[in-house]
Amino acid sequence: MENIQLTNFFSNTVNFFKAFFETKRRFQTQSSFCRLNRAYADKALANPSFVSPYSLINDSIIIKDGIISGCLINSKNNLEFIFELYILEIGAVRIRINEKNPLKPRYDKVKDWALVQDPLITLEYNQIPSKAGVTSFSFGKEKNQTISIYHSPFRVEFLIDDIPTIILNDRGFLNFEHLRDEESNIESLSETNQSSSKNSIQNAETSGDKLDPKLNGPGSIGLDISFPGYSHVYGIPQHASSLSLKETRGGTGAYSDPYRLYNLDIFGYAIDSPQALYGSIPFMMAHRKGASTAILWLNASETWVDVTKCKENNKNNLFGLFNSGKSINSTNTHWISESGIVDVFFFFGKTSSEIFHQYGLLTGFTSLPQYFGIGYHQCRWNYLDQKDVAEVDEGFDRHDIPYDVIWLDIEHTDGKRYFTWDLDKFPDPEKMQKDLMNKGRKMVTIIDPHIKRDENYYIYKEASDLDLFVKKASGSVYDGICWSGSSSWIDFTNPLAQEWWSKKFAFDQYKGSTEVLFTWNDMNEPSVFSSPELTMPKDLIHHGGWEHRDLHNIYGFAYHKASTQGLINRTEPPRRPFVLSRAFFVGSQRYGPIWTGDNVANWDYLAISTPMLLTIGISGLPFSGADVGGFSGDPKPELLVRWYQAGAFQPFFRGHAHRDTKRREPWLFGDPYTSYIRDIIKERYSLLPLWYTLLYEASTNGMPIIRPMFVVCSDDENVYEMDDQFFVGNSLLVKPIVEEGQTSTEVYFSGNEIYYDYFTFEKIRGSNKIRIKAPLNKIPVFLRGGSIIPKRQKIRNCSSAMHLDPFTLVIALNENNEATGSLYLDDGETYDYEKGYFVHRQFAFSAGKLESTSLSSFDNDKNIYAKLINSVHVEQIIVLGLDMKPSRIIAHTADSDFELQFDLKCFGTLSGINTSDVLVIKVTNLSITEDWTIEFLK
Ligand code: GLC
Repeated sequence: MENIQLTNFFSNTVNFFKAFFETKRRFQTQSSFCRLNRAYADKALANPSFVSPYSLINDSIIIKDGIISGCLINSKNNLEFIFELYILEIGAVRIRINEKNPLKPRYDKVKDWALVQDPLITLEYNQIPSKAGVTSFSFGKEKNQTISIYHSPFRVEFLIDDIPTIILNDRGFLNFEHLRDEESNIESLSETNQSSSKNSIQNAETSGDKLDPKLNGPGSIGLDISFPGYSHVYGIPQHASSLSLKETRGGTGAYSDPYRLYNLDIFGYAIDSPQALYGSIPFMMAHRKGASTAILWLNASETWVDVTKCKENNKNNLFGLFNSGKSINSTNTHWISESGIVDVFFFFGKTSSEIFHQYGLLTGFTSLPQYFGIGYHQCRWNYLDQKDVAEVDEGFDRHDIPYDVIWLDIEHTDGKRYFTWDLDKFPDPEKMQKDLMNKGRKMVTIIDPHIKRDENYYIYKEASDLDLFVKKASGSVYDGICWSGSSSWIDFTNPLAQEWWSKKFAFDQYKGSTEVLFTWNDMNEPSVFSSPELTMPKDLIHHGGWEHRDLHNIYGFAYHKASTQGLINRTEPPRRPFVLSRAFFVGSQRYGPIWTGDNVANWDYLAISTPMLLTIGISGLPFSGADVGGFSGDPKPELLVRWYQAGAFQPFFRGHAHRDTKRREPWLFGDPYTSYIRDIIKERYSLLPLWYTLLYEASTNGMPIIRPMFVVCSDDENVYEMDDQFFVGNSLLVKPIVEEGQTSTEVYFSGNEIYYDYFTFEKIRGSNKIRIKAPLNKIPVFLRGGSIIPKRQKIRNCSSAMHLDPFTLVIALNENNEATGSLYLDDGETYDYEKGYFVHRQFAFSAGKLESTSLSSFDNDKNIYAKLINSVHVEQIIVLGLDMKPSRIIAHTADSDFELQFDLKCFGTLSGINTSDVLVIKVTNLSITEDWTIEFLK
């Protein structure tokens, strides 16, 4: 009882605080260091004779151990900086700039968290002759990439085939605010032409009600990076904004603030806004016909990014690139971070897939989750007690709706003491989990990073004794308010805290946990209700003496990392973990999925979930989702159905709801709504083999799972801004319905290709927009001609029950009567796939033959998993759009040749849409693990 009252009290107070700070933030302009750097840029633009004061000291460039370095000087104050350039083995380039003699070390540990390893440099580059004052190198496999370093003013140009593709300090906004003591702090004010009051810089950051002392002055860094010839840039999640980033100054006047990267807990965030949200990935990609490029700004402090566009004036000799007469746009960006150093990576490719691969090699590929991770997850704040859990679980069975995981929110704990249970409500957690396990299902419990300050709480006590909490500048342990009341926060940047925390997941430590219990990390921005902007004050101190301001965006990531390690360690041999996180940073993909936080049950939030997830996906974090139904508010049945339809085609698929909302388990709405929700969840389950294959591929090559149009149709300039339709892999085109009462929509089909309606198999020929019917029981989804999709037709209660079920292959032929596809399978739980115990097949249809071959080089005889599923077979093959009527269909395996039964269905003409021939082949005796060929005879 006491707990409920306490939670209600906190919930109300928190919502009040959240609303208060939210309103306040909307009226606040940017942080002072952002204003300072923007003012610097304004001054540079306003003055036609402005030149950047930064130059490389003559003859200072040296090449040692492959590293190209030099000494930069700011002529305004004669301060010196170390410039370093590394050409990396992965094909990317890295530039670092740091103060030569800083007052104290500047934070440069971001790399240790975000990158998989210190990237190796290559010696495969050549210095090439260039004019005086310029040092140039050629690099890349074809040596067609050039870096030109202009000494004075300092400027770096990257060219591909002599065409500039990225330019650094193009507009001269490089501004490196050195760390100051009291004296020089005052001097610096006149340099930057800011107000001459010391307080205006030192204390300009009133962020909320508390002053941020900023002991060493502004300390910020700013740099402009131009993308000549690129009309569109993408990335820098997380914002509730479009896929193609909008202008933040002048131009279309879309936004007046820069995009902000600063992990914050924002309840019911604003839509169409550059406002910071829960996660930050300072990765930006630019794409144009024939070329993609990207940068990673490796900095974990508060960061702002201005985006502006301009018509090219041929300053960069780009006119030859495009058809004459066509106007060429370029995008200019301005990066501003509060602290740290300049550490930027540059990636180049002909296609975006090359960029995704390079970025993955640098920051890690997404880890392969357990198979259940891609099933449907049922969450609510909160399932009340053990009986409630059992009833909900049983409800899914009764209504014939598959699901994999039921989630418990904060109320399941003993007074928000994580790793504990409220035993009045959940008297036997192990039995509860065993009951789920017996049906092949799992459970997830929430574990937040705020630790209740209670001497009798073992987690608090141990962390206190081991001195693992984040401190105030005074040295005492920091305390603030969160769900658990007065709390302190573990300093996850401390290696000892990482190790200690991960041990807390051991079964003998986390009492009542079993191997089917997994984890949800929330509030890890970190969220602190009692502090400005609902997060930690910037002057708190972390391990190594670093201020929180230096590493804010790493906090949630480091927490996610420790929890993930905990789940890996708790079993021997280790099993794959599952930890969902709300905060994220560069490299979070290595630890688990993320979701887009506290959305609202209205159509706008459903619509924005697509561009948000597409952006997160192209920024190296492909496994993500948005709360289905909208977290707060009560969705009307139509909205809920549309949300399930959209969610079924997003990588992480979870229904979740705020505690103040009405219950909304799918069967509570009655037919037709319940049936529509059931149908689409079942459709998701039939496609699990495709989702898992895509996750596997993402884990090896970095490709996003759901892909923006520009990634798949990369030469079609009509799609570069499109973000209301997308592809799952390269094969399914999806256009969620996101407007109330809508029963048809226009879908854009690129490139005169053939598509087939996913549900009816009707044939559609692109190109351009076609109006498609979308009654409430249908989400527009299309199979792209040229693809083969692996499916399972029999749907069971959860994903693990389907592992030995047969497959159906859907072959959607293109105009050349060809198609390809793949299928990846493993045990879905362990790391045995790393030993080669998996099945990876390629299916290819051409010249009237369908072939199944292995994509694995591992010896099949030793492949324990392949042996286990050897009896799993293909039961049906559906061929769409075959240009001939076969008389016989013959299968050839290693042991025998035999004839297959088939049925040819021909659809009649449907209003305005071409029909397709559908050939349904009944199959027996074709193992999914073995090579075979099927011949279609005339
Ligand atoms: C946060 C989470 C939400 C969760 C709630 C209670 O608002 O974003 O998903 O239900 O906290 O734990």
